[in-house]
Amino acid sequence: MTMTLEQVAQALVADDKGILAADESSGTIKKRFDTIGLASTEETRRDYREMLFRSTEAMKNYISGVILYDETIRQSAKDGTPFVEILNAAGCIPGIKVDLGAKPLAFHPGETVTEGLDGLRGRCEEYHRLGARFTKWRAVISIGKDMPSRTCILANMHALARYAAIAQEAKLVPIVEPEVLMDGDHTIGRCAEVTEAVLRTLYTELALHGVVLERSLLKPNMVISGMDCPQQASVEEVAARTVQILRRTVPAAVPGIVFLSGGQSDELATAHLSAMNASYDLPWKLSFSYGRALQAAALKAWNGKTENVAAGQRAFSHRARMNSLAAAGQWTSDLERAA
Ligand code: 13P
Repeated sequence: MTMTLEQVAQALVADDKGILAADESSGTIKKRFDTIGLASTEETRRDYREMLFRSTEAMKNYISGVILYDETIRQSAKDGTPFVEILNAAGCIPGIKVDLGAKPLAFHPGETVTEGLDGLRGRCEEYHRLGARFTKWRAVISIGKDMPSRTCILANMHALARYAAIAQEAKLVPIVEPEVLMDGDHTIGRCAEVTEAVLRTLYTELALHGVVLERSLLKPNMVISGMDCPQQASVEEVAARTVQILRRTVPAAVPGIVFLSGGQSDELATAHLSAMNASYDLPWKLSFSYGRALQAAALKAWNGKTENVAAGQRAFSHRARMNSLAAAGQWTSDLERAA
């Protein structure tokens, strides 16, 4: 049965489910493997992703879709079964990162613009043939002295809109990801101000380019204190500020908002999501599209060793279940301790 783009977008934010971001580029996955002293090779990357994708409990119950990297969507498990087939069998929708990374923005030291529009149509068509049904493009906005510039916001949101339109023409649901980084000592108020400006610009550009909002998802940062800010906002404040900014800027036609974790601890990323869902009545589904906050514990438990595959899968399933509860507003810290 072929699903419409609306149906794919809705399925990705089905009740109690969220997205696993497993689209680390070769450079990023190397950094992750470095933390456990594991060399990054095609084989170790396959073994790691196979461990995650074969975590049946998590994949069947808590994960709606998986964002893959170019290498991964073409890869097969050790026994030769293509990863795409394994995901489909678990009821998970395969997705693909299609941007080519954040590159220095000319005349704007410290700022980047995400590249990858050239040839994007052809890449999207190929990914659709390979089984992908949704896509992701990440724009990066840094907060600092005189940053972000208006130029950086405009260039990145324009690129996101052009990407999203091409993805929809190629029958793929675009996830638009404008990430305001948490690096820095800025206050939560500053993060709120920048996030609001970014999202407002994003939805203006999406409209200008004819992107159909019902066939898209938003992947934003939460509104939080800078990592080095001495005054860290409470869970309640993060939930309140994030909801306020989203209500101001994101049209109700968008079926779902799936947050990135962005360097938050596993448990805080879960607590923030749960607080939003528990306390607010919202026009969109609020769920997760976490990379690090879903994988960090699993990577550590696995530690690159075959004999630890089951332990890695247990750790992954636990985090996936905690975030599934958060998507329903039903997570409590007691559940963490019980586990
Ligand atoms: P994090 O949850 O680790 O921020 O990753 C999500 C993602 O896909 C970033 O592009």
